[in-house]
Amino acid sequence: MAGLYVHIPFCAQKCIYCDFLSGTNLSLRRQFIDALIAEMDCCLDFFKDDKIRTIYFGGGTPSLLTGEELKRIYDAIVERWDVSEVEEFTMECNPDDLSEEYLVKLKYLPINRLSIGVQSFVDDELKWLNRRHMAKEAFEVVKLAKHAGFDNITIDLMFALPMQTIESLNYSIDKALELDVQHISAYSLMFEPDSKITKLMELNRLEPLDEDIAADMFDLLSERLIEAGYEQYEISNYAKLGFESRHNSGYWHGMRYLGLGPSAHSFDGEKRWSNVAHTIKYIDLVRNEELGIRNEELLNMDERFNELVFTALRTKIGVGLLELRLRFGDMRCDRLLRQAQKYIDAGNMHISNNRLALTHSGIYISDSIISDFMIV
Ligand SMILES: C[S@@+](CC[C@H](N)C(=O)[O-])C[C@H]1O[C@@H](n2cnc3c(N)ncnc32)[C@H](O)[C@@H]1O
Ligand code: SF4
Repeated sequence: MAGLYVHIPFCAQKCIYCDFLSGTNLSLRRQFIDALIAEMDCCLDFFKDDKIRTIYFGGGTPSLLTGEELKRIYDAIVERWDVSEVEEFTMECNPDDLSEEYLVKLKYLPINRLSIGVQSFVDDELKWLNRRHMAKEAFEVVKLAKHAGFDNITIDLMFALPMQTIESLNYSIDKALELDVQHISAYSLMFEPDSKITKLMELNRLEPLDEDIAADMFDLLSERLIEAGYEQYEISNYAKLGFESRHNSGYWHGMRYLGLGPSAHSFDGEKRWSNVAHTIKYIDLVRNEELGIRNEELLNMDERFNELVFTALRTKIGVGLLELRLRFGDMRCDRLLRQAQKYIDAGNMHISNNRLALTHSGIYISDSIISDFMIV
């Protein structure tokens, strides 16, 4: 089974932390959708022996497209590939795009999982992030989505914002728990190379939050969400039982996936490629049937091993040792186990059901542990 990702490269305005590919020139929408559909024709074989299990419309802001535009994309998918076994169809939405009427259109598309970018329930924090919505609006929109019949909703929250306090994060957690959604992603603010906050930091006009406070925030989130019945099944992701993201879990456990649209990444089990990260270039290249939209990377066994270990160890179930041995041979697997022993002895890792995973204390120092396992 495989995944399909579609990148919608538009935003109404840019948030100061974000470096995902998106632009504000919405007049390119029609040409972009034409190009997206033309790109599908170049990848017809991808799902020949492997049916689509998950579809994910991400961005950018997919909810800036009209119901009709989204349907055009979905119909083009259905015309080309078998979607009879799709279990999960997610769409990322910004809270201020969701009206009752629009939600009904999404429901019948048929999207069955909504990912709503709330980020915070504190207005001053939202303003600083340059979000378009206010806290109350996000709160009401999640309720509206539940009312419209969505029973698999995830919200994004952010922590370690420079002006955030333990109290304000506690308040956002209270509001999130009140909404009783099935899934919460909680991301620590990252200073990505091309974002505005990184430029501000380089100019000494912004200071990241103190690391110890950020660590306390991570603990607070996991303690409170786990206590409320969520499982932390990946470093940044919490789900009620049975509501783990199947699409993202596929990425973390080595599933094949096809990414369509500018900047989208794909993995066919051996090869990895990414599309050109520029919307106009993408449209032109697809229009002229040029192959240059893809930047291919053929991974050797060591690199594939590193990738799987890197992503799977960030999940609660960790990495399957039998699968690892079968796919990558005894030498790599034995080396990993030898290196893992000191972390197992220190209580930061454990092996159960023949899977190697981080313990709760290990999760927080996951970066340094995992980097130790990489084959260079
Ligand atoms: C593709 S983005 C956004 C989807 C949608 N446009 C929105 O803003 O709600 C997915 C999520 O990544 C998170 N994110 C993006 N940039 C981030 C950063 N620099 N640090 C931490 N989280 C980030 C945000 O929580 C965001 O909702
Ligand atoms: S966080 Fe979402 S709305 Fe903000 S710039 Fe990134 S993709 Fe666009």
